[in-house]
Amino acid sequence: MTTQASPAGQRFALGPTGIELFKSLFFIQRAPLAYLVESAHRYGDLAHFQIGTQHAYLVSSPSAIKRVLLDNHRNYAKNTIQYRQLAQITGDGLLTSDGDFWMSHRKSAQAAFTPQRLERVLAFALSETQAMIDQWQAQSKRQGYVDVDMYETMCQLALRVVGRALLSIDLSQEAPKLVRAMENALEHIVYRVTRFIDLPDRVLLSTWRFRAAVQTLDQAVFSLIAQRRNMPERPADFLTDLISTTDDGQPLSDKEVRDEIVTMLIAGHETVAAGLTWAWHLLADHPAEQAALRRESQAVLASGRLCLETLPKLRLARCVFSEALRLYPPAWLITRRALGADVLDEHFVPAGAFVIICPFIVHRHSAFWTEPERFLPQRFDPEQEHSRPRFAYIPFGAGPRLCIGQHFALVEAIAVLALMTQQCRIERIPNTRPATPLAQVTLRPPHGTKLRVRLECP
Ligand code: HEM
Repeated sequence: MTTQASPAGQRFALGPTGIELFKSLFFIQRAPLAYLVESAHRYGDLAHFQIGTQHAYLVSSPSAIKRVLLDNHRNYAKNTIQYRQLAQITGDGLLTSDGDFWMSHRKSAQAAFTPQRLERVLAFALSETQAMIDQWQAQSKRQGYVDVDMYETMCQLALRVVGRALLSIDLSQEAPKLVRAMENALEHIVYRVTRFIDLPDRVLLSTWRFRAAVQTLDQAVFSLIAQRRNMPERPADFLTDLISTTDDGQPLSDKEVRDEIVTMLIAGHETVAAGLTWAWHLLADHPAEQAALRRESQAVLASGRLCLETLPKLRLARCVFSEALRLYPPAWLITRRALGADVLDEHFVPAGAFVIICPFIVHRHSAFWTEPERFLPQRFDPEQEHSRPRFAYIPFGAGPRLCIGQHFALVEAIAVLALMTQQCRIERIPNTRPATPLAQVTLRPPHGTKLRVRLECP
């Protein structure tokens, strides 16, 4: 154990020391998620690592997570390597900013997620999904099925929905290029975070791909802002809100508007896409659950137009998506920096400590979940949900920094699940294995992992 000054009566967290600690740096780079899971298993709900002079804590109990994200959230800032590096792409957008700046932008952004706007999200999710199914229908004419890289396809779908709902634009042409640009930029960030390279982009030479990716995003977004500023009649959407917003009497600059849009594009597409992709993989391996979901979708969709009021009828679709987010939380890592010393579950945490919360670990914690490794959507029935601590399930984070797009994501995902199961059967391709999760910025299957989509008449 490493020494830290702690007030009397409080305990120190346990963790690797000596050669074990040295080895851990190697494993963090190679398999960060597996390493964190193993550490929680070995050292418990509060594991401690000392990396150089830095103290890091892996926090896995709902009570300690509640303290970090809610009860004492002011003590925990986003000034971590994860968010500093992400800010190289998103600038001072909502996800990476802090303090008064973040709060004023969060208040303004809330308007984009009202029920009225969510009705648009639902309508666009349905129309974009139907267009995708129609395309599969045409492609599958000869064989009756089409083999699909589900993650790639869900990324493009989710980006088109964000484009339409928040920016009133059709991204069907640009989606592949933008998805690739965001992925290249994010891959670079993951490389640096797992190797503890916390330098500004301009200091490093090996970043041409990253810069090209950011340039692609900048070109697309700045030209969109310019077009919108010149429009005499602007559509009622997030982009118009941003352009019209005044912060202390000053309209947002193009750079501020750009940062918020890039943030929404990134935060709003990969996460939903990863969650849906895992749902499809799980359903492919659980045909009985898929058949039950198909019966629900066909019944609900036959009974009239889907709108926010009728969406709760798709109960099983919601349970399936919630369970996919439990087993494979797309945002698998939430980090904070302790501004002052604190006590988490009676353990001393010094000022400056790096705090790591891994939803993947808490979502499979055997003290709070029965048969945690099994796919059991019914555990999200409202009666069962109430029997668990709130902070044992945090796919969207919690506290004031709770995901602003949570309802956007749920509405979209439920619509996609319902429409696709109504018209398609999703199967594993014969002789392929279940996908293993890849811990990138989001938790996703490896590229090129395909599923078979068999078209069915509704
Ligand atoms: C299944 C889908 C999604 C998941 C799992 C997810 C997860 C999360 C999590 C865990 C956080 C909190 C991070 C932290 O506390 O450090 C977060 C924040 C955020 N998310 Fe999501 N998200 C999803 C969908 C979306 C969508 C659809 C949008 C926008 C259209 C969005 C926009 C944001 C933004 C802007 C923040 C920062 C909010 C703030 O700090 O004020 N997310 N998300």
